[in-house]
Amino acid sequence: MTEKHGFIRVCEISAIKNGTHRAFDVEGRSILIMNVNHIFHAVQNRCTHLDYPLEGGRQLGCEIICRKHGARFDAKSGRALDGPAVNRLPVYPTRVVGGWVEVAIPPHHA
Ligand code: FES
Repeated sequence: MTEKHGFIRVCEISAIKNGTHRAFDVEGRSILIMNVNHIFHAVQNRCTHLDYPLEGGRQLGCEIICRKHGARFDAKSGRALDGPAVNRLPVYPTRVVGGWVEVAIPPHHA
């Protein structure tokens, strides 16, 4: 992974098909990258209910559903849309440069 201007190169866009997601280790954090109609969203790959990994959960449009107890999160805002989770998921800025997905991890999260 290469760091430029605060953004970290994570994967090629072809690594995540439309309507799917994958988790990556970025700066020691597990980050879930979701492809929603070719727009990439990055969220923390840990449910805010009991820390269960969100990777492998059902993805419905911009939403990801935790496999453990069914909490539903909006990948754009991180908002918990349905319980049992109530806390928002951290979300991270993304951009696509030269066919690569890049994610910015804020300094206080690094
Ligand atoms: S750990 Fe995700 S809903 Fe409980």
